[in-house]
Amino acid sequence: AAPTRYEAEKGTYSAGSTVDTNHTGYSGTGFVNSNNAVGAYVEFAVDAAAAGNATVGIRYSNGTTANRPADVLVNGTAVATARAFNATADWDTWATSTLTAPVKAGSNKIRLSATTAVGLANIDYVDF
Ligand code: GCU
Repeated sequence: AAPTRYEAEKGTYSAGSTVDTNHTGYSGTGFVNSNNAVGAYVEFAVDAAAAGNATVGIRYSNGTTANRPADVLVNGTAVATARAFNATADWDTWATSTLTAPVKAGSNKIRLSATTAVGLANIDYVDF
């Protein structure tokens, strides 16, 4: 089945994060610019038709020259540790980072949690 798109601005995010529109090319009504801290997060409540391994596509931009790593957690369990969210050409350029993660049937929480003090890349959506 085609994935469902979950916009970051409709998810939950750590205090101090903002929904911004000052860069182009985002989907929905904006993107989440997380606060700059270890543990800064965006969390998506996604719905799985069945238990099993699911494809998670994370759209982000990173207009710096440095990786902005983040742990990816499903229902509180890390499925990727310090996953790279590498530099894109600028903040208007978006890339999709795709991984496979085990999920349960029904609602699942997917959290991107920054592992460095600069926080997350800008996050646009998750396709699940
Ligand atoms: C800039 C950019 C933001 C980005 C921030 C950052 O301020 O405009 O969109 O989130 O840098 O480095 O996190």
